[in-house]
Amino acid sequence: MNSLTRTLPASWFCSSALYQLERRAVFLKSWHFLGPVTRFQNRSEKVTYEIAQVTVIVENRSPEHDGIDIDGITVYAEDENTKIKSHLTPSGLLFATLSEDTSNFEDFFEGLEELTNKVDFTKLPHRRSISYEGNFNWKTMIDGFQECLHCQYTHPTFSKFYPPTFYSVTNHKNFSQHMADPSKQSDGLFLYFFPICTLNVYGGGMSSFRTLPSPKPGVSRMEFDYYHAGTDEVFEEYFKFVRQVAIEDFELCEKAQENLERGVYGEGILNPVKENGVQFYQQRVKELVYQQHSTEKTAKDERINAAQVPAGVVGEGKAIAVQ
Ligand SMILES: [Fe+2]
Repeated sequence: MNSLTRTLPASWFCSSALYQLERRAVFLKSWHFLGPVTRFQNRSEKVTYEIAQVTVIVENRSPEHDGIDIDGITVYAEDENTKIKSHLTPSGLLFATLSEDTSNFEDFFEGLEELTNKVDFTKLPHRRSISYEGNFNWKTMIDGFQECLHCQYTHPTFSKFYPPTFYSVTNHKNFSQHMADPSKQSDGLFLYFFPICTLNVYGGGMSSFRTLPSPKPGVSRMEFDYYHAGTDEVFEEYFKFVRQVAIEDFELCEKAQENLERGVYGEGILNPVKENGVQFYQQRVKELVYQQHSTEKTAKDERINAAQVPAGVVGEGKAIAVQ
């Protein structure tokens, strides 16, 4: 039993102090997926993202025309004192950081471009974006995304088209690839970008969501972007299908969070095959949080020691004076 990985304890889903540590350890040091270039083709619309309390803006400053333009895409933080980095993959996916305290894109997502370069992400136009709050920790939603054990009973319609029998998750450096059916490589492809972004190609269209954390550990904001090349009617049909899946997940997460907050669920053991995606991302969070905690503790100890040296000297001096 010792070789089996345990979940993060419930306290990690309910603590404000832990979130602040996660913010410094995970969010400010990661690359975040903003969207395929088709999200930014409306020149009059500045697209704004608020990720872990940092506001990032994307503008397309190229001259207005019918084609897809990537040259004018400009990414910056709303606070001009905050310096960030951005990266556009050759296949048309835009990523950004929330600080300059991150590794370079190729190191962070090692091997990702080899995978995404097989797909042209400039083909599906952006159709709709929606956003709303949920009563759950960001990890409660990612836990659910990273496994499909719950699919059969939570998503009956989805499971009819993508039977969980074949469902598999492969973990890479800071990203996971899900496959609903290995024989259909272009359909049922789900990508998870550590820590909070996803890209999902299924049901004839493409969607992306972000689970945005808030200082309240039990509250997150869901943001979804939908892409589709079909007529309005076909798009609405696709939208209905994928929204159904998202609503089912949302309800599951709010209930799971209630159990975490009430102490109904403490921690458990992860299925090494069916929950390898959960294991992968939770261990990454744990590793980064521990690392951050240790770095901050060392820095604090050094500050205390430095402050104590003069005090010690003064103390000795006083002792000598008394003698
Ligand atoms: Fe789900």
